[in-house]
Amino acid sequence: MTQRITTFDEFRDVVSAYRLPRVLLIALELDLFTTVGDRLWTIPDLAKELKVSERGLSIICRNLAAVGVLQKKGASYRNSRLGATALNAYHRAYRGGYLNLIKRHWADWIRLSESVRSGLPIDHDIPDSPDYRRQFTWAMHHTTLEIAPAIAAQVHMGRAKTLLDLGGGPGTYAMAFLARNPTLRAAVCDREPALEVAKEIAGRHKARHRLSYLPLDFSKDPIPGSYDVIWYSNVLHMYSPEENRAIFRRALAALTPGGRFIIQDAFLHDREGLYPAEASLFAVSMLLFTEGGNTYSASETANWLKDAGFITAKSLPIRKETEDWEDGILEASAPGQRPKTTGRRIQSKGNRTAR
Ligand SMILES: C[S@@+](CC[C@H](N)C(=O)[O-])C[C@H]1O[C@@H](n2cnc3c(N)ncnc32)[C@H](O)[C@@H]1O
Repeated sequence: MTQRITTFDEFRDVVSAYRLPRVLLIALELDLFTTVGDRLWTIPDLAKELKVSERGLSIICRNLAAVGVLQKKGASYRNSRLGATALNAYHRAYRGGYLNLIKRHWADWIRLSESVRSGLPIDHDIPDSPDYRRQFTWAMHHTTLEIAPAIAAQVHMGRAKTLLDLGGGPGTYAMAFLARNPTLRAAVCDREPALEVAKEIAGRHKARHRLSYLPLDFSKDPIPGSYDVIWYSNVLHMYSPEENRAIFRRALAALTPGGRFIIQDAFLHDREGLYPAEASLFAVSMLLFTEGGNTYSASETANWLKDAGFITAKSLPIRKETEDWEDGILEASAPGQRPKTTGRRIQSKGNRTAR
């Protein structure tokens, strides 16, 4: 949703919106939903269990109940359905990977001024640790496990026999494409710690025998093999235009004639490059966490694809409510015999996506 701020009252309301997120994050930091579990708690009992003050806890719980993540019964509190499942570490639907990531993000975003001043990511001097990569990969899985099957149902594989999930992380998309296409074989390409998580996740799937793993740094090394489809989801924004152009050339070299390179990302769609507002905000995350990442318009990405040697670039329509990003899929074809697909063409020059 696009938020316009024109009055001082609107400005004040938007700035003070940090309050509720902070209350929700405190609840996560205290493991409150996990501790509440499926019991009804009085404030004194719960405060004792969490080792916090009764005064502090009663104010926090009242606010959690006001937005429905806890339920209030007289002077006691119990979990909502959400609190008892996705936010509860003892429940199988727990989304701990993602929750851990957003807990860290509060402290990261406080450091935004450092990145604005330097133009560098906040932790540019700290190498990516395997532990962090594993945690991030679980977070990706927890974010996309419902979206991926919906996308796989709409991005048709046609006659494709092989798919490479480039920067596939947990392989959630690769698994969704395999589940949807019984004769397809797929490979997930990522760094080793991410692939360890992908193997754990795939171990629970029927299609796991059709999935393989490709440990590689594709920003430096050529991509071995030859694929009918390369799926490049949520990676474009991590890299600068120059880096993406180089990756596009490597992807083209790893496609069969007429093969498809499908990019999913937070594309900007207006002439000035402001909207969707979520895509502009997402660029702030790229400032905080990457050396050269940003969010880009579909039309400039289409230009880079053409420069890299792809012959067409078109937007793939996805039903609203099932999208990862608004109008977030762009498909390009390698020269050669083209497979049959549906879609709308993107202007290769200029600022606007042709619709
Ligand atoms: C934001 S995640 C996206 C994961 C998944 N494609 C999705 O859409 O949910 C980006 C992934 O790309 C991987 N990645 C980025 N650059 C890479 C590189 N140069 N070589 C290998 N993997 C890379 C990261 O490790 C991470 O798993």
